[in-house]
Amino acid sequence: MTPETVLTGIKPTGTPHLGNWVGAIRPAVELAKNPARRAFYFIADYHALTGLKDGPELQRYTYSVAAAWIALGLDPERVVFYRQSDIPEVFELSWVLACFTPKGLMNRAHAYKAAIQKNQEAGEDDIDAGINMGLYTYPILMAADILVMNAKEVPVGSDQQQHVEIARDIAQYFNRQYRATIFTLPQALIDEQGAVIPGLDGRKMSKSYHNTIPIFASAEELRKLVFRIATDSSRPGEPKDPEKSTIFHLYRLLATPEEVAQLRHAYETGIAWKDAKEALYTLIEERLRGPRQRYQELMAHPEELDRIFEKGAETARQEARETLERVRQAVGIRR
Ligand code: TRP
Repeated sequence: MTPETVLTGIKPTGTPHLGNWVGAIRPAVELAKNPARRAFYFIADYHALTGLKDGPELQRYTYSVAAAWIALGLDPERVVFYRQSDIPEVFELSWVLACFTPKGLMNRAHAYKAAIQKNQEAGEDDIDAGINMGLYTYPILMAADILVMNAKEVPVGSDQQQHVEIARDIAQYFNRQYRATIFTLPQALIDEQGAVIPGLDGRKMSKSYHNTIPIFASAEELRKLVFRIATDSSRPGEPKDPEKSTIFHLYRLLATPEEVAQLRHAYETGIAWKDAKEALYTLIEERLRGPRQRYQELMAHPEELDRIFEKGAETARQEARETLERVRQAVGIRR
Protein backbone atom coordinates (compact mmCIF):
# COMPACT_ATOMS: atom_id res chain seq x y z
CA MET A 1 0.00 0.00 0.00
CA THR A 2 1.33 3.43 -0.81
CA PRO A 3 1.73 5.60 2.27
CA GLU A 4 -0.64 8.51 2.78
CA THR A 5 0.49 11.89 1.65
CA VAL A 6 0.66 14.79 4.04
CA LEU A 7 1.02 18.12 2.30
CA THR A 8 1.30 21.72 3.30
CA GLY A 9 2.03 25.04 1.62
CA ILE A 10 4.05 27.87 3.08
CA LYS A 11 3.30 31.36 1.88
CA PRO A 12 6.49 33.41 1.55
CA THR A 13 5.17 36.73 2.80
CA GLY A 14 7.46 37.51 5.73
CA THR A 15 10.48 36.50 7.75
CA PRO A 16 9.55 33.55 9.95
CA HIS A 17 8.99 34.27 13.64
CA LEU A 18 8.88 32.19 16.78
CA GLY A 19 5.13 31.70 16.44
CA ASN A 20 5.62 30.20 12.97
CA TRP A 21 8.26 27.87 14.29
CA VAL A 22 6.35 26.51 17.25
CA GLY A 23 2.96 26.62 15.55
CA ALA A 24 3.77 25.38 12.05
CA ILE A 25 7.38 24.52 11.29
CA ARG A 26 8.16 22.35 14.30
CA PRO A 27 5.02 20.18 14.14
CA ALA A 28 5.32 19.78 10.35
CA VAL A 29 8.97 18.74 10.65
CA GLU A 30 7.98 16.19 13.31
CA LEU A 31 5.10 14.90 11.21
CA ALA A 32 7.46 14.29 8.30
CA LYS A 33 9.54 11.93 10.42
CA ASN A 34 6.72 9.39 10.44
CA PRO A 35 7.73 6.76 7.89
CA ALA A 36 4.08 5.79 7.36
CA ARG A 37 3.60 9.05 5.50
CA ARG A 38 4.96 10.77 2.46
CA ALA A 39 5.49 14.45 3.14
CA PHE A 40 5.09 17.07 0.41
CA TYR A 41 5.93 20.57 1.62
CA PHE A 42 6.15 23.48 -0.74
CA ILE A 43 6.62 27.22 -0.95
CA ALA A 44 3.35 28.74 -2.21
CA ASP A 45 5.11 31.51 -4.10
CA TYR A 46 2.33 32.24 -6.60
CA HIS A 47 -0.15 32.48 -3.75
CA ALA A 48 1.97 35.26 -2.29
CA LEU A 49 1.54 37.24 -5.50
CA THR A 50 -2.09 38.04 -4.63
CA GLY A 51 -0.79 40.57 -2.13
CA LEU A 52 2.94 40.97 -2.65
CA LYS A 53 3.87 42.88 -5.79
CA ASP A 54 7.50 43.70 -4.98
CA GLY A 55 9.59 41.28 -7.07
CA PRO A 56 12.86 41.35 -5.14
CA GLU A 57 10.93 41.01 -1.91
CA LEU A 58 8.97 37.97 -3.08
CA GLN A 59 12.22 36.40 -4.17
CA ARG A 60 13.94 37.15 -0.86
CA TYR A 61 11.06 35.74 1.20
CA THR A 62 10.96 32.59 -0.92
CA TYR A 63 14.59 31.80 -0.14
CA SER A 64 14.38 32.99 3.42
CA VAL A 65 11.38 30.82 4.26
CA ALA A 66 12.89 27.78 2.56
CA ALA A 67 16.21 28.30 4.36
CA ALA A 68 14.39 28.66 7.68
CA TRP A 69 12.53 25.37 7.28
CA ILE A 70 15.68 23.51 6.36
CA ALA A 71 17.70 25.14 9.13
CA LEU A 72 15.01 24.10 11.60
CA GLY A 73 15.19 20.45 10.67
CA LEU A 74 13.26 19.80 7.47
CA ASP A 75 15.24 17.07 5.74
CA PRO A 76 14.97 17.44 1.96
CA GLU A 77 16.05 13.81 1.57
CA ARG A 78 12.93 12.78 3.34
CA VAL A 79 10.45 15.48 2.44
CA VAL A 80 9.55 16.38 -1.12
CA PHE A 81 10.31 20.08 -0.81
CA TYR A 82 9.47 22.22 -3.82
CA ARG A 83 8.24 25.51 -5.16
CA GLN A 84 4.64 25.75 -6.33
CA SER A 85 5.72 27.77 -9.36
CA ASP A 86 7.87 24.84 -10.57
CA ILE A 87 4.79 22.66 -11.01
CA PRO A 88 2.87 23.85 -14.10
CA GLU A 89 0.28 21.09 -13.59
CA VAL A 90 -0.98 22.97 -10.53
CA PHE A 91 -2.05 25.87 -12.72
CA GLU A 92 -3.65 23.68 -15.35
CA LEU A 93 -5.61 21.86 -12.67
CA SER A 94 -6.59 25.17 -11.13
CA TRP A 95 -8.51 26.05 -14.31
CA VAL A 96 -10.26 22.71 -14.39
CA LEU A 97 -11.28 23.06 -10.75
CA ALA A 98 -12.51 26.59 -11.37
CA CYS A 99 -15.01 25.08 -13.80
CA PHE A 100 -16.37 22.95 -10.95
CA THR A 101 -16.42 25.64 -8.28
CA PRO A 102 -19.73 27.37 -7.62
CA LYS A 103 -19.11 31.10 -7.59
CA GLY A 104 -21.07 31.36 -4.37
CA LEU A 105 -18.52 29.15 -2.64
CA MET A 106 -15.86 31.78 -3.34
CA ASN A 107 -18.18 34.54 -2.12
CA ARG A 108 -18.30 32.77 1.21
CA ALA A 109 -14.54 32.29 1.64
CA HIS A 110 -13.29 34.06 4.79
CA ALA A 111 -10.46 36.07 3.22
CA TYR A 112 -12.71 37.49 0.53
CA LYS A 113 -15.48 38.21 3.01
CA ALA A 114 -13.05 40.02 5.28
CA ALA A 115 -11.85 42.12 2.33
CA ILE A 116 -15.34 43.22 1.29
CA GLN A 117 -16.25 43.91 4.88
CA LYS A 118 -13.26 46.21 5.18
CA ASN A 119 -14.43 48.08 2.11
CA GLN A 120 -17.92 48.40 3.52
CA GLU A 121 -16.60 49.74 6.80
CA ALA A 122 -14.43 52.21 4.92
CA GLY A 123 -17.55 53.48 3.13
CA GLU A 124 -16.37 52.41 -0.34
CA ASP A 125 -19.06 52.53 -3.06
CA ASP A 126 -17.63 49.41 -4.66
CA ILE A 127 -17.43 46.56 -2.17
CA ASP A 128 -14.86 44.85 -4.43
CA ALA A 129 -12.52 47.84 -4.53
CA GLY A 130 -8.88 46.79 -4.49
CA ILE A 131 -9.71 43.08 -4.59
CA ASN A 132 -7.99 41.18 -7.39
CA MET A 133 -9.17 37.91 -8.92
CA GLY A 134 -6.13 36.16 -7.45
CA LEU A 135 -7.43 36.88 -3.97
CA TYR A 136 -10.93 35.86 -5.00
CA THR A 137 -9.91 32.53 -6.52
CA TYR A 138 -7.15 31.86 -3.97
CA PRO A 139 -9.00 28.82 -2.58
CA ILE A 140 -9.14 27.23 -6.03
CA LEU A 141 -5.39 27.43 -6.50
CA MET A 142 -4.99 26.01 -3.03
CA ALA A 143 -7.36 23.17 -3.89
CA ALA A 144 -5.20 22.45 -6.95
CA ASP A 145 -2.06 22.35 -4.75
CA ILE A 146 -3.68 19.77 -2.55
CA LEU A 147 -5.56 17.64 -5.07
CA VAL A 148 -2.82 17.45 -7.67
CA MET A 149 -0.59 15.62 -5.16
CA ASN A 150 -3.39 13.35 -3.87
CA ALA A 151 -2.87 14.63 -0.35
CA LYS A 152 -4.89 13.05 2.39
CA GLU A 153 -3.81 15.18 5.34
CA VAL A 154 -3.13 18.89 5.29
CA PRO A 155 -1.57 20.39 8.43
CA VAL A 156 -2.59 24.05 8.62
CA GLY A 157 -3.44 26.78 11.09
CA SER A 158 -7.12 27.12 11.98
CA ASP A 159 -7.39 30.13 9.65
CA GLN A 160 -6.84 27.76 6.71
CA GLN A 161 -9.33 25.11 7.71
CA GLN A 162 -12.07 26.53 5.53
CA HIS A 163 -9.76 26.44 2.50
CA VAL A 164 -9.09 22.75 3.01
CA GLU A 165 -12.82 22.13 3.32
CA ILE A 166 -13.35 23.98 0.06
CA ALA A 167 -10.75 21.74 -1.59
CA ARG A 168 -12.62 18.72 -0.32
CA ASP A 169 -15.94 20.06 -1.61
CA ILE A 170 -14.52 20.73 -5.05
CA ALA A 171 -12.97 17.24 -5.15
CA GLN A 172 -16.35 15.77 -4.35
CA TYR A 173 -18.18 17.74 -7.04
CA PHE A 174 -15.63 16.51 -9.55
CA ASN A 175 -15.63 12.87 -8.46
CA ARG A 176 -19.40 12.83 -8.47
CA GLN A 177 -19.66 14.36 -11.93
CA TYR A 178 -17.45 11.66 -13.46
CA ARG A 179 -18.56 8.86 -11.14
CA ALA A 180 -14.97 7.99 -10.31
CA THR A 181 -12.46 8.58 -7.56
CA ILE A 182 -10.19 10.89 -9.47
CA PHE A 183 -9.26 12.90 -6.39
CA THR A 184 -8.39 11.84 -2.87
CA LEU A 185 -10.52 13.72 -0.35
CA PRO A 186 -8.22 15.84 1.83
CA GLN A 187 -8.63 16.65 5.48
CA ALA A 188 -7.17 19.49 7.58
CA LEU A 189 -4.92 18.66 10.53
CA ILE A 190 -5.13 21.53 12.97
CA ASP A 191 -2.41 21.96 15.57
CA GLU A 192 -4.10 23.73 18.46
CA GLN A 193 -0.84 24.88 19.97
CA GLY A 194 -0.31 27.20 17.06
CA ALA A 195 -3.28 29.30 18.03
CA VAL A 196 -2.06 30.40 21.42
CA ILE A 197 1.51 31.63 21.04
CA PRO A 198 1.68 35.06 22.63
CA GLY A 199 3.70 37.91 21.15
CA LEU A 200 5.64 40.73 22.85
CA ASP A 201 2.46 42.53 23.91
CA GLY A 202 0.65 39.38 25.08
CA ARG A 203 -1.68 39.19 22.07
CA LYS A 204 -1.29 36.32 19.58
CA MET A 205 2.12 36.56 17.90
CA SER A 206 1.41 37.85 14.41
CA LYS A 207 3.13 39.88 11.76
CA SER A 208 0.11 42.17 11.55
CA TYR A 209 0.38 43.09 15.25
CA HIS A 210 4.10 43.93 14.99
CA ASN A 211 4.72 41.88 18.11
CA THR A 212 6.86 39.06 16.76
CA ILE A 213 10.23 37.63 17.66
CA PRO A 214 11.96 36.75 14.37
CA ILE A 215 13.57 33.33 14.53
CA PHE A 216 16.87 34.41 13.09
CA ALA A 217 17.37 37.75 14.77
CA SER A 218 20.93 38.30 15.96
CA ALA A 219 21.65 37.55 19.62
CA GLU A 220 21.61 41.28 20.47
CA GLU A 221 18.35 41.89 18.63
CA LEU A 222 16.81 38.87 20.29
CA ARG A 223 17.81 40.06 23.75
CA LYS A 224 16.35 43.51 23.05
CA LEU A 225 13.04 42.01 21.92
CA VAL A 226 12.77 39.65 24.88
CA PHE A 227 13.34 42.57 27.24
CA ARG A 228 10.43 44.40 25.57
CA ILE A 229 7.92 41.69 26.56
CA ALA A 230 5.06 43.23 28.52
CA THR A 231 4.92 42.35 32.24
CA ASP A 232 2.80 43.55 35.15
CA SER A 233 4.10 45.83 37.87
CA SER A 234 4.85 43.19 40.51
CA ARG A 235 8.25 43.64 42.12
CA PRO A 236 11.20 41.32 42.72
CA GLY A 237 10.43 39.04 45.65
CA GLU A 238 6.67 39.07 45.01
CA PRO A 239 5.30 35.69 43.87
CA LYS A 240 4.12 35.74 40.26
CA ASP A 241 1.51 33.70 38.44
CA PRO A 242 3.30 31.86 35.63
CA GLU A 243 0.02 31.21 33.80
CA LYS A 244 -0.49 34.94 33.32
CA SER A 245 3.01 35.59 32.05
CA THR A 246 3.94 35.80 28.38
CA ILE A 247 7.56 35.09 29.31
CA PHE A 248 6.55 31.84 30.95
CA HIS A 249 4.30 30.81 28.06
CA LEU A 250 7.09 31.30 25.55
CA TYR A 251 9.59 29.56 27.80
CA ARG A 252 7.34 26.57 28.13
CA LEU A 253 7.10 26.15 24.36
CA LEU A 254 10.86 25.66 24.06
CA ALA A 255 12.03 24.20 27.36
CA THR A 256 12.26 20.66 28.72
CA PRO A 257 9.76 19.70 31.46
CA GLU A 258 12.50 20.01 34.11
CA GLU A 259 13.42 23.49 32.95
CA VAL A 260 9.75 24.47 33.03
CA ALA A 261 9.37 23.13 36.57
CA GLN A 262 12.38 25.13 37.68
CA LEU A 263 11.11 28.37 36.24
CA ARG A 264 7.67 27.75 37.70
CA HIS A 265 9.28 27.42 41.10
CA ALA A 266 11.22 30.64 40.53
CA TYR A 267 7.94 32.44 39.75
CA GLU A 268 6.38 31.19 42.94
CA THR A 269 9.33 32.43 44.96
CA GLY A 270 9.30 35.86 43.38
CA ILE A 271 11.76 35.92 40.50
CA ALA A 272 12.44 39.46 39.21
CA TRP A 273 11.03 40.12 35.74
CA LYS A 274 14.46 40.93 34.43
CA ASP A 275 15.75 37.54 35.55
CA ALA A 276 12.80 35.77 33.95
CA LYS A 277 13.55 37.62 30.72
CA GLU A 278 17.20 36.71 30.97
CA ALA A 279 16.23 33.03 31.37
CA LEU A 280 13.97 33.18 28.31
CA TYR A 281 16.56 34.98 26.22
CA THR A 282 19.24 32.44 27.17
CA LEU A 283 16.97 29.53 26.30
CA ILE A 284 15.95 30.88 22.88
CA GLU A 285 19.53 31.79 22.05
CA GLU A 286 20.71 28.31 23.01
CA ARG A 287 18.05 26.55 20.95
CA LEU A 288 18.43 28.75 17.89
CA ARG A 289 22.17 29.35 17.65
CA GLY A 290 22.79 26.26 15.51
CA PRO A 291 19.82 26.77 13.17
CA ARG A 292 20.74 30.45 12.78
CA GLN A 293 24.16 29.50 11.53
CA ARG A 294 22.73 26.98 9.06
CA TYR A 295 20.20 29.57 7.90
CA GLN A 296 22.93 32.08 7.20
CA GLU A 297 24.95 29.52 5.26
CA LEU A 298 21.96 28.71 3.08
CA MET A 299 21.14 32.35 2.47
CA ALA A 300 24.74 32.87 1.39
CA HIS A 301 24.43 29.92 -1.02
CA PRO A 302 21.06 30.14 -2.75
CA GLU A 303 22.33 27.70 -5.37
CA GLU A 304 22.11 25.02 -2.69
CA LEU A 305 18.43 25.88 -2.24
CA ASP A 306 17.95 25.88 -6.02
CA ARG A 307 19.25 22.32 -6.17
CA ILE A 308 16.86 21.26 -3.42
CA PHE A 309 13.92 22.91 -5.21
CA GLU A 310 14.86 21.26 -8.47
CA LYS A 311 15.03 17.82 -6.97
CA GLY A 312 11.75 18.31 -5.14
CA ALA A 313 10.00 19.53 -8.26
CA GLU A 314 11.12 16.47 -10.18
CA THR A 315 9.42 14.11 -7.73
CA ALA A 316 6.38 16.32 -7.25
CA ARG A 317 5.84 16.69 -10.99
CA GLN A 318 5.71 12.95 -11.47
CA GLU A 319 2.81 12.79 -9.09
CA ALA A 320 1.20 15.85 -10.65
CA ARG A 321 1.50 14.52 -14.20
CA GLU A 322 -0.27 11.31 -13.27
CA THR A 323 -3.12 13.22 -11.67
CA LEU A 324 -3.48 15.47 -14.68
CA GLU A 325 -3.53 12.46 -16.96
CA ARG A 326 -6.56 11.10 -15.08
CA VAL A 327 -8.22 14.49 -15.04
CA ARG A 328 -7.77 15.15 -18.75
CA GLN A 329 -9.20 11.79 -19.62
CA ALA A 330 -12.15 12.19 -17.29
CA VAL A 331 -13.18 15.57 -18.66
CA GLY A 332 -12.65 14.48 -22.26
CA ILE A 333 -9.77 16.75 -23.20
CA ARG A 334 -7.73 13.64 -24.09
CA ARG A 335 -8.60 10.22 -25.39
N1 TRP B 1 -3.01 29.41 2.17
C1 TRP B 1 -1.95 28.88 2.99
C2 TRP B 1 -1.53 29.96 4.00
O1 TRP B 1 -1.85 31.09 3.84
C3 TRP B 1 -0.75 28.47 2.18
C4 TRP B 1 -1.09 27.39 1.21
C5 TRP B 1 -1.14 27.48 -0.14
C6 TRP B 1 -1.43 26.04 1.54
N2 TRP B 1 -1.47 26.29 -0.70
C7 TRP B 1 -1.65 25.37 0.30
C8 TRP B 1 -1.53 25.33 2.75
C9 TRP B 1 -1.99 24.04 0.26
C10 TRP B 1 -1.89 23.99 2.70
C11 TRP B 1 -2.11 23.34 1.47
O2 TRP B 1 -0.85 29.65 4.92
